[in-house]
Amino acid sequence: MIAKLTLCVFLCFISLVVAQETYPEYSYPSVFSEPGRDLLIAGKFPADFIWGSATSAYQIEGGWQEDDKGLSIWDTFSHNGRIYNNQNGDVACDSYHKYEEDVALLKNLGVSYYRFSISWPRVLPNGTVDYIDEAGIEYYNNLITSLLDNGVEPMVTLYHWDLPQFLQDEYGGWESDELVDIFNDYADLMFERFGEKVKYWITFNEPYVVCWLGYGINVFAPGIYDPGAAPYRAAHTIIKAHAKAYHTYKQKYSSYGGKLSITLSTDFGIPEDPNKPEDVAAAERYMQFTAGWFAHAIFKNGDYPDTMKWQVGNKSMAQGFEESRLPEFTEEEKDEIKGTYDFFGLNSYTSTVCRAEVDTGTEPNYEGDQDMQRYQPDEWPTSTSSWLRPVPWGLRGLLNWVKNEYNNPDIFITENGVSTALDSGTEDEERVTFYRAYINEVLKAIEQDNVKVKGYFAWSLMDNFEWTSGYSQRFGLHYVDFDDNDRPRTVKTSAQWFKDLIAYNGFEEGYSAGNLVQQNFVICILSSVLITLFVSLRL
Ligand SMILES: *[C@@H]1O[C@H](CO)[C@@H](O)[C@H](O)[C@H]1NC(C)=O
Ligand SMILES: *[C@@H]1O[C@H](CO)[C@@H](O)[C@H](O)[C@H]1NC(C)=O
Repeated sequence: MIAKLTLCVFLCFISLVVAQETYPEYSYPSVFSEPGRDLLIAGKFPADFIWGSATSAYQIEGGWQEDDKGLSIWDTFSHNGRIYNNQNGDVACDSYHKYEEDVALLKNLGVSYYRFSISWPRVLPNGTVDYIDEAGIEYYNNLITSLLDNGVEPMVTLYHWDLPQFLQDEYGGWESDELVDIFNDYADLMFERFGEKVKYWITFNEPYVVCWLGYGINVFAPGIYDPGAAPYRAAHTIIKAHAKAYHTYKQKYSSYGGKLSITLSTDFGIPEDPNKPEDVAAAERYMQFTAGWFAHAIFKNGDYPDTMKWQVGNKSMAQGFEESRLPEFTEEEKDEIKGTYDFFGLNSYTSTVCRAEVDTGTEPNYEGDQDMQRYQPDEWPTSTSSWLRPVPWGLRGLLNWVKNEYNNPDIFITENGVSTALDSGTEDEERVTFYRAYINEVLKAIEQDNVKVKGYFAWSLMDNFEWTSGYSQRFGLHYVDFDDNDRPRTVKTSAQWFKDLIAYNGFEEGYSAGNLVQQNFVICILSSVLITLFVSLRL
């Protein structure tokens, strides 16, 4: 009997060791398993940490011709066959008609904030305040009221890429300086109509993507190919438009006590060889050309980063231009731009490896201007989006970079998430793995690095129109059946996981180890019983 018992305890111990091996404490153990960097930690977020989820108008609303809504550049772009399988956002998730269901999903998740965007041509069909479509205003009024009635605060993005087509046709879109005032009028109207209820505003979402993919390489609407100059012109307008809207808010609506900023996107640039100063400088150049392009002026000194001014300036001279392709701000504009933020809005999904390499091309090009090559190593984990390889620790690196570069601002992660395939259903374990890994890095940044991250918005509330990929890449916490006219939404495994995370406000003690110990304990008991039975029968 004693011998049997001893054997049993011994086998139990072995099974515990085996189970320990089976349940990794790393999210992507085969690739990222440096203990000091990649081990999951337990702990709670600050009590006032904001949890939210995000969407954007064109990706979910549909109702593209409802009431007097004007066309946006994305209506035009998608109707011109520029999207996967010739798809478009005409119906999308039909949130124009089903917003109450969206609010119910948010309420069930337990998030305290919902980040959505206003479709500019829905409220101003031609983009200008000459004609207001009150039905469009009414839609957002209803949405905001419904959110507040259900205990969810709105965070509103004014520009999430759907520029009124009229402004593109008439002025050339963001390449024109005239849009500074036109955008300001639009922003002013939105503050006036919704300012009492909306306490968080974001002027622009990911202007880097707007300028480079939209005006540089004809990948996104409005589909302009001018890689050497148009992106710089568009960015110049956007920075000034942001600053002007910021001052309008502070001058006319400060009694509402809201906060306003811009949301910037970048991958985290990692030097190929951290011991090579050229590569370190190349990675830094990449960060300055993406995030710094906008952030340096707004969060630092009203002007572009020196490295951008020098790179583009020298290249432009060598290419025979009379002046730099990077426009200059006047001193007055610099004063107007610097400090126009109440927090830092950050979208990030992945990382990129940077290597210094002098560009020998003679064609003016924003990427050539950076004298840098970048890539994602084959061994990194993948997702359904070719550009999106999960690198959890890169987010922590990026948060620290923002902290150090911009004098430790409050940061809201306004988007983070991962795609799964068209035929992926509601059991999305990959998304749970991604969120667990990335959100754990946010906790490390707060606890161990003192980065002031104040909130996290999961992209996205539900599967939606993923730009040129149409409906082929699913980013949602909720599944949407796009073959069904009702566009039913269904909770995914990841939504349940996120809900539990929010309810606990963090990772339970021993989240990595502890949960596993619990599981191991169960496995241990089970195997002991089985082994005891087995041994009893045999002996
Ligand atoms: C509004 O835009 C449409 C084209 O989208 C155009 O036909 C119409 O003339 C514009 N209206 C005004 C008042 O500019
Ligand atoms: C060229 O780069 C150097 C620094 O490397 C800088 O001092 C100079 O101002 C740049 N020239 C232009 C035209 O931007």
